[in-house]
Amino acid sequence: MTFSLSHDPDPLPRLPLELGRLNEGVGRWVPEMKHTFLAKYVEGTRQARKKFPERVYVDLFCGPGRIQVKGESATRHGGAQIAWQHSRLDSAAFTSCLIGDLDPVRASACADRLRAFGAPVQVFEGAAESTVDRVVQAVPKGALCLAYLDPYNLQYLTFNVIEKLATLKFVDFAVHFSTMDLRRNLLMEYNPERARFDLTAPGWRDHISPEAFVRGDAEELFFDYWCNLVKNLGFTISQRMPLVRDEGNRPLYHLVFFSRHSLPNRIWGDVAQGPNREFNFD
Ligand SMILES: C[S@@+](CC[C@H](N)C(=O)[O-])C[C@H]1O[C@@H](n2cnc3c(N)ncnc32)[C@H](O)[C@@H]1O
Repeated sequence: MTFSLSHDPDPLPRLPLELGRLNEGVGRWVPEMKHTFLAKYVEGTRQARKKFPERVYVDLFCGPGRIQVKGESATRHGGAQIAWQHSRLDSAAFTSCLIGDLDPVRASACADRLRAFGAPVQVFEGAAESTVDRVVQAVPKGALCLAYLDPYNLQYLTFNVIEKLATLKFVDFAVHFSTMDLRRNLLMEYNPERARFDLTAPGWRDHISPEAFVRGDAEELFFDYWCNLVKNLGFTISQRMPLVRDEGNRPLYHLVFFSRHSLPNRIWGDVAQGPNREFNFD
């Protein structure tokens, strides 16, 4: 199977499209990096998936299921469609796709597009922090899960969503961590009245001193602190952590992958090539 899949025609072209934060089309890095790594990872883990009778894809920020890249007239699959289509290789398809979005129109567009490709879908409308409990309950016991968390804004990557999904026994995460959002807002956020990132990395204020803002390493420390919160849930974070940059070479986000098992981390390490932030825990 190849990535030409992302050019499959849209089964439902009248439904809304993902056009990025500025509504002018998403950046090329979405299909070229984010969705390519997702596709390759899903393909690369097919043998492992086959060992599990229940294989679940979880996507709480699913968008409408179809993207348009800036400057392109054709449209391409969204992340959930990429994951579903690539999971079908070798009869290792997800047995359930649990998707959600804050925007009910987007959530239902994504569900309709997945169903048009034959996917078994349950849709959860609402903020991830409120849908996550029902999503966890909908995962069959002992299922192998891939959780793809892809919010635009770092503040919506609330840590309790990760904690709740982490109660699942076999769960691996691919997470979009918006470095740009952090850079733009962390300094302002030091004012406790704003508190935008307090749910993203609870307790960060106790670990990053005001001097870090003067030295200029506050963002780095924030990211390291968040990674340690993840590690404390029993996960190993892959050292392959591609840093996606925009056309002006400004850092946009890290794609962070973590698992409790070595095989998924190894497979992510093989597929997620590109500019990287090396990350070593003591
Ligand atoms: C980057 S887009 C998703 C793109 C999609 N994952 C893909 O790969 O094609 C982010 C989505 O998150 C949704 N969103 C924003 N805040 C949210 C929240 N708190 N909970 C759930 N969804 C949210 C937005 O409506 C938007 O559709």
